[in-house]
Amino acid sequence: MRPEHLRTKLFLDGGNPEETKEIIGSLGFLDGQTTNPTLISKNPGVRERLKEAQKFTKEQILDYYHDVVKEISAMVPGGSVSVEVYADAASRADQMLAQGKEMFGWIPNAHIKFPTSFEGLKAASQAVKEGLRVNMTLCFTQDQAAAVYAATQGARKGDVFVSPFIGRLDDRGENGMDLIANILCMYEKGDGHVEVLTASVRSLDHFLYALKLGSHIITSPFDVLKEWAARGLPVPGPDYVYDRRALRPIPYKEIELSRTWQEYDIRHDLTDKGMERFSQDWNSLIG
Ligand code: E4P
Repeated sequence: MRPEHLRTKLFLDGGNPEETKEIIGSLGFLDGQTTNPTLISKNPGVRERLKEAQKFTKEQILDYYHDVVKEISAMVPGGSVSVEVYADAASRADQMLAQGKEMFGWIPNAHIKFPTSFEGLKAASQAVKEGLRVNMTLCFTQDQAAAVYAATQGARKGDVFVSPFIGRLDDRGENGMDLIANILCMYEKGDGHVEVLTASVRSLDHFLYALKLGSHIITSPFDVLKEWAARGLPVPGPDYVYDRRALRPIPYKEIELSRTWQEYDIRHDLTDKGMERFSQDWNSLIG
C-alpha cells in the first residue's frame, strides 16, 4: 500500500516485466517505469537469445522492445512508461522525433525519452508541440534542466519529465544529490510544467534523500525498491540526514528560466558518454 505521507511518484527502472510484477506485489503499488537501451539489452529473453549466438535485426529488436513495453504498460495502466529513442552523436532531431512518434503510439501511457543534448532538445521542443509526452534523459547540470524547461514551455504539467542522473555524478566524485536539490529549487521560480525524475539511483540512501527533497518522481532499480519494501516502506521525516561521504558539493547557480533554450549551456561530457553507451549497448544486439 502507498504510504500515507508519500507524495513522490515511484517508478521502477528496468527492462524486465517479471520484475515489474514482483515489485507491484512487494509495494502494493507502482506509479510507472523507465526503460533504456541498456536495460533492454539485459532483459532475460534478449540474453537467452544472444547466448544462442542469435542476434536481432533492427526491426526485430524494436519489435521486442515494443512487446516488453506493452507488457509493462498493461501492469501500470494509470502510470507512465518511459521509452527511449535511439540516439548517437550523429542522430539528428528529425530522426529522433520520427522514432519518438512511432514509439508514442506503442502504448497509451508513454513518455518518450530524448537525450538532453542540442538535437534531443530540438526534437523534444517539437514533440511537445505535437502532443507527445517527454522525459529528458542524461541531464547532468542545472543549465540543462533550465534548457528543458524553456524548450517545453506550453506543455501541460505531467507531460514533461527531466531525469538528472545522480549515480553517474557520484561515480566521478560529485554529489549527484545536490543536483536534485538545485533543480527543484530553480524550478520553484517556474510554472511547474516540468517534473523532476531522480534517475541513476544506486542505493536506498539516494532513494530516501530524494524522497526527503521532494523529488516529484524517483525511478529506482529493482533491488532498491525491494530493500525499501523489506524495511516497511519508510518515508523519511525532516530529521533524515544524507551521508554525502567525500563527494564534492555541486553549488547552486542563479539561472533565469526566461531565456530561449538555445541560450543555455547545454553540453556535458556525461551526456555524450551516456548516448555513446546506450547506442553501443543497443547496437550490440543487432547482427
Ligand atoms: C532511467 O531513466 C535511467 O536511464 C537510469 O536510471 C540510468 O541509470 P544508470 O546510471 O545506473 O545506468
